[in-house]
Amino acid sequence: MTSTETPHETLVRRFYDDAAVGGEGAGEAYTALMEEVWHHGDLAADRDGVSPLEAAVRMERQLMTIAGVGPGDHVLDFGSGPGGATVNMAEMTGATFVGVSNSESLSQRARRHAADRGLRNLARFATIGDLDYRDLALWPDASFDAVTFFESVCHLPDKAAFFRAAARTLKPGGRLVGLDWLQRPFGEHQSEEQIRAFIDPVCEHIRLAPGGLGTLEGYAELMRAAGLRVTHAVDAFPGEPCWGSTPPEDREAWLTYSGPSGDVFQRGKRALDAARGAGVFTVGWWAATRPATV
Ligand SMILES: C[S@@+](CC[C@H](N)C(=O)[O-])C[C@H]1O[C@@H](n2cnc3c(N)ncnc32)[C@H](O)[C@@H]1O
Repeated sequence: MTSTETPHETLVRRFYDDAAVGGEGAGEAYTALMEEVWHHGDLAADRDGVSPLEAAVRMERQLMTIAGVGPGDHVLDFGSGPGGATVNMAEMTGATFVGVSNSESLSQRARRHAADRGLRNLARFATIGDLDYRDLALWPDASFDAVTFFESVCHLPDKAAFFRAAARTLKPGGRLVGLDWLQRPFGEHQSEEQIRAFIDPVCEHIRLAPGGLGTLEGYAELMRAAGLRVTHAVDAFPGEPCWGSTPPEDREAWLTYSGPSGDVFQRGKRALDAARGAGVFTVGWWAATRPATV
């Protein structure tokens, strides 16, 4: 990047910001289409035929259980967006959460949601600068019992820096758990070139970090390089296309969405569905521990 180029992170913020503050309106679009929870759900729950929201809650519960989060714990939820997942986790664990986003429009949405759910004291939301994820300098060493991320790290060009910062802010013995968008070989699409033919348009339209999505093992390696001990690295849709919580009956609503930047979201939906259909897109989740001594 030359000094005159806008950092990718700033483009991501503008993508999510409300149209009223000059953004592209992804916050408005996703809230209209998915309410306040924007991440994939648990596959078994999807198969049980529960709602996308309930499947997402089951995924959150599974990660909270693995992380051992409970009352009195303090948790950072990185990339909290509209806050639904953060508020759900605060409600199910009794822990205090600080949700972090670089979009103040999203943080405001999240604060309203926490207030509506009567959980303002357990779920608070902070807006950080576009590049602050690289050191999370607002928080001293060993601030948190757990750090979570739900489909947010995929936007970051410098994922290694984020995982180092997350490890630093965890208490010894603290847990990192998260879910994110990934690419993988699938069926006839085995080479990087074949995979990227589907994944690059997704990254472009949905403002994910350029250069392709990460991989399950790639994320685990970054966590290990940050000094964490990885206990789980799981493809949430193993051996099958990841349609996740996107029932076909929702497709029409996405493809006709006419709010601010409606064409952007329609193009994003088409690119993502093509990658889902080819099987080269999936989501994965991880759990890792900060060793007692580092
Ligand atoms: C797809 S949303 C996920 C929202 C929420 N975790 C959920 O699952 O419902 C991605 C989030 O990542 C945040 N994000 C992206 N880049 C960021 C950055 N550089 N710093 C802080 N947050 C960032 C966005 O602001 C947004 O809140």
